[in-house]
Amino acid sequence: MKVLANDGISQSGIEALEKAGYEVITTTVAQEQLINYINENDIAVLLVRSATKVRKDIIDACPNLKIIGRGGVGMDNIDVEYAREKGVKVINTPAASSHSVAELVFGHFYSLARFLHHANREMPLEGDSKFKVLKKAYAKGIELKGKTIGILGFGRIGQATAKVALGAGMKVVAFDPFLDEASLDLEFFDGQKVHFDIKTISKEEVLKQSDFISLHVPAQKDYVIDTKEFEIMKDGVFIANAARGGVVNEVALVKAIESGKVAGAALDVFEKEPSPEIQLLMNPGLSLTPHTGAATNEAQDRIGVELATQIVSILG
Ligand SMILES: NC(=O)c1ccc[n+]([C@@H]2O[C@H](COP(=O)([O-])OP(=O)(O)OC[C@H]3O[C@@H](n4cnc5c(N)ncnc54)[C@H](O)[C@@H]3O)[C@@H](O)[C@H]2O)c1
Repeated sequence: MKVLANDGISQSGIEALEKAGYEVITTTVAQEQLINYINENDIAVLLVRSATKVRKDIIDACPNLKIIGRGGVGMDNIDVEYAREKGVKVINTPAASSHSVAELVFGHFYSLARFLHHANREMPLEGDSKFKVLKKAYAKGIELKGKTIGILGFGRIGQATAKVALGAGMKVVAFDPFLDEASLDLEFFDGQKVHFDIKTISKEEVLKQSDFISLHVPAQKDYVIDTKEFEIMKDGVFIANAARGGVVNEVALVKAIESGKVAGAALDVFEKEPSPEIQLLMNPGLSLTPHTGAATNEAQDRIGVELATQIVSILG
């Protein structure tokens, strides 16, 4: 059987599929030629990331298509319900990138706590002429060890973030309206495991207690962090949003940075993607990445292998 990985797939995914007897094609077929290509080559499985759109026209015109697979989480580019109504299986890989997102959050937090985001901008410009001035400017860093991290949204990525935090020596508190408790196993290089049961607490308590706050909620109608929530937080709090643009009110965030309430914030996602507000891009209180939370080689490997495992278990 043939698999078309139209937006690419990891080598580990290709190997797992080939081992199970599948032919994997990694040509990128243009959107308007996709129907012809699938039918002429008798493609049984179409794998995409976010670039290729799999709408009703493809589903209707390609009756031999058995599986549509999305490497990653969001399936906005696939008519999922329609495909399922027509008997086509739709799969994705929701867990593959959780740890990658968690590590990105910590990259930002460590960076903010020691002014790395500033130092990396200023050292190339003034590192030779103003070394001592910069040394003084970045002198009052803080450690994460011993601090409290508050996690809003305690699902896959929230729990992965909690594990990294526990490993870093932080206290973890969490809020999730749909989850009372989570059971976490921290695994170490030599096979040792440490087990933690973390009971969720109220949102207000999380906001009050935390030195660092990280959001891991799905997209929703209202802001999860707005002016009211900033008021409850500790002075000098650090905050990260690697969940979705629109869960933090960006205008309220900039105000909270300017007032000194927020010591530093990290954004991987933006209300306006792919052209975030210039006030955010130029703000010295922000550590920024262009939605790269899931973008690691390891996550891509896990995505490929997870897709291959699911395909083999559905089609044999
Ligand atoms: N930055 C990136 O590149 C990247 C990559 C993957 C996923 N994400 C985003 O990360 C977010 C979390 O993903 P996940 O895989 O952990 O999802 P998940 O479904 O496993 O977990 C989300 C959790 O949030 C909880 N929740 C819902 N509304 C809430 C609220 N108002 N307050 C607190 N908790 C609430 C849910 O009960 C659930 O437990 C999603 O928004 C996803 O789009 C970002």
